[in-house]
Amino acid sequence: MNDTFLKVCRGEEADYTPVWLMRQAGRYLPEYQAIRSHIDFLTLCKTPGLAAEVTLQPVNLLGVDAAILFSDILIPVEPMGMKLEFSEKEGPILSEPIRNRLSVERLVIPDIEEDLSFVLDTIRILRKELENKVPLIGFSGAPFTIATYMIEGGTSKNFLHTKKLMFQHSNVFDYLMEKITATIIAYLTAQIHAGVQAVQLFDTWAGILSPIDYKKFALPHVKKVISEIKNKEVPIIYFINDCAGILKEVKKTGADVIGIDWRVDIADAIKKLGKNFIIQGNLDPCALFLSKEKLEDRVKDILWKGENAKGHIFNLGHGVLPQTPVENVIAMVELVHYYGRKS
Ligand code: CP3
Repeated sequence: MNDTFLKVCRGEEADYTPVWLMRQAGRYLPEYQAIRSHIDFLTLCKTPGLAAEVTLQPVNLLGVDAAILFSDILIPVEPMGMKLEFSEKEGPILSEPIRNRLSVERLVIPDIEEDLSFVLDTIRILRKELENKVPLIGFSGAPFTIATYMIEGGTSKNFLHTKKLMFQHSNVFDYLMEKITATIIAYLTAQIHAGVQAVQLFDTWAGILSPIDYKKFALPHVKKVISEIKNKEVPIIYFINDCAGILKEVKKTGADVIGIDWRVDIADAIKKLGKNFIIQGNLDPCALFLSKEKLEDRVKDILWKGENAKGHIFNLGHGVLPQTPVENVIAMVELVHYYGRKS
């Protein structure tokens, strides 16, 4: 198996800088669209054979060094007791958002083996299919990011409902975070037992918090998840979008690998984090629309700066955009493999 990605996650020497992409499976791939043309997104996530097929598409088409389970961060929210839909236009919609204590009380901690067996079955299929290829990454949303969807009922611009609950009823907010945290721990533990070889926690919306609020409302729960997963012997990647303002706090999470967005210079992020972390990132997803020559410069710059970290996994600073030309993604992976050689 190509274990370059796992070696770098563990802080070991590797022959080259590994690369994978957040949202590497999805709408920019015609092969994905072909499957999605006759099945809706949620059903696809819940059909292990197809979810596994879609997971493997980018591995075979792009030559990336890791596979990421095809699913969504909101999948565990359904068995917690909320109704989940994906609208083509608006993205995820959670009806009856959480705004008071009673609605938190009604939420349950799911029985993962039973309620999310389709995720675990997808993992088992994938481990067989990937045997001689690349490692499989499992994932979950981080507590704060999941909480924003549950409180807002979907994506938001200013996250006012979330911050109102945090500021006006912090005990209710904490109670919600505790239930989400317990669910995430059970969910990631089950994914690891089913066979994932690394896990990533997506904290897409943590960057909307001031450092004081991140420290108070989000960090303790991220720490709890990571400390529970730490003894399971798989590397933990913590990705925060818009991380620049809170990197000092992010150091305290206990994650092995820190995933960063593109708004921060990777050299500055490495300096702030210090020598104890592996860094993941951070090409602007829109850089995949540059000419090949300009893309080459960007890739080289990130690789060169990444040398100063304890280890570097190349990735985008956020997910691949649906409009991205596939040939540019393939070119990027080739550039990383070419310029990222150590010998
Ligand atoms: O990375 C991968 O290839 C694995 C699959 C994956 C998906 N979502 C598939 C998906 C992963 C890891 C996610 C994580 C996810 N989901 C995040 C964190 C990462 C990030 O992008 O910030 C978030 C915030 C979500 C919630 C979500 N799911 C939104 C806001 C949307 C709609 C907007 C969008 O980006 O498409 C989704 C839908 C979704 N999740 C799709 C896919 C392939 C598109 C569904 C479709 O086929 O129409």
